[in-house]
Amino acid sequence: MNYDDLISDRAKSIDVSGIRRVFELGAKLENPINLSIGQPHFPVPDVMKRAAIEAVESDRNGYTLTQGDPTLRERIAGHLRDDVGWTIDGETLDVMVTSGTSGALLLSFLALLDAGDEAIIPDPYFVIYPALGPITGGTIRYCDTYPDFRMTAERVEPLITDRTRLVLVDSPANPTGVVLSDRELADLADLCRSRNIVLLSDEIYDEFIYDGHDGNGRCPSPARHWSGTLLIRGFGKSYGCTGWRMGYAAGPRPLIAQMAKLQQYTFVCAPSMAQHGCLAAFEADISGHVEDYRRKRDLVYEKLADVATVTRPSGAFYAFVEVPPKLGLTGMEFVERALERNVLIIPGSVFSQRDTHFRLSYAVDDARLVEGLEILRELLAGG
Ligand SMILES: Cc1ncc(COP(=O)(O)O)c(C=O)c1O
Repeated sequence: MNYDDLISDRAKSIDVSGIRRVFELGAKLENPINLSIGQPHFPVPDVMKRAAIEAVESDRNGYTLTQGDPTLRERIAGHLRDDVGWTIDGETLDVMVTSGTSGALLLSFLALLDAGDEAIIPDPYFVIYPALGPITGGTIRYCDTYPDFRMTAERVEPLITDRTRLVLVDSPANPTGVVLSDRELADLADLCRSRNIVLLSDEIYDEFIYDGHDGNGRCPSPARHWSGTLLIRGFGKSYGCTGWRMGYAAGPRPLIAQMAKLQQYTFVCAPSMAQHGCLAAFEADISGHVEDYRRKRDLVYEKLADVATVTRPSGAFYAFVEVPPKLGLTGMEFVERALERNVLIIPGSVFSQRDTHFRLSYAVDDARLVEGLEILRELLAGG
């Protein structure tokens, strides 16, 4: 069989060479200091584990409704009422449970983009955002946010055309940890509203915020300024259950209805036992973990800021570090040097059209983090 002739252009156009190369190189290491992992290192709270196990053991293992278990949807609606002030009545605003945040992202792009329609995403970006172009037939427009990584209305506006259907913002951001201010998000909401474009806000890291809170001590969200926002959040990062594949989307009913229809014919529903487990998430307290990550964030910044340009992360659990130009190395070349010293990090080219930075994750225990930072510090200083 010549599979090359059979494979779709859609599949072929998604380039995974950068990340694959890092994994191949990383696989050769024995016990690497792994600062590449995009998930928390703490265990799922016991209340959630027990709720999921209880659901399995009491034979609640069938399909749920496509939009999600009604009790979970109610809990999410209650949370959004308290957090962003939305009344989810199922008529103007609605909510659906999705198979991970990635599931919600895919469904939203499928619901909004026809061939040739455009989506504006930040650069740097979370890896799946650009792939959603070829997957849906839409065109991706990159909003270059270097060097401060702020996706502002001023930077987005010139990219808008009459084919623009959505603007995607992620704050706190992967890979930079940047948290946009309440004002910046309100301006983006105003811009999108005035141009009849959907503002999709990926807030998967909303619980991980260390500074840059709004005036009420919360993670800034455009949803508080505009109920036309399509809000996407998840449970995986906040509660250490990325493998459960649990996210949700909330926003204008006409959008959620189309996404639910598409979910019915693709994912069908989010995993049932994970939905039951996540019902208990609202009782879990992760504030200790957030404090722990704040401390790790400080450690990373203290160790690296005097040898490289690092935008101080305000949220998530990543830092995006510039490879000092005087080293004359691309991000990938620097990553290869780090691998020679047993440290696994990810080149900026995996998250960007440029290859000038690398991403490190500080969701690891302190001993490994400190060991890794010492080596990176040495390499960045030209050692
Ligand atoms: C910004 C961002 N959005 C979405 C996702 C996907 O999350 P999930 O595992 O819930 O699909 C990630 C995962 O790394 C992410 O960093």
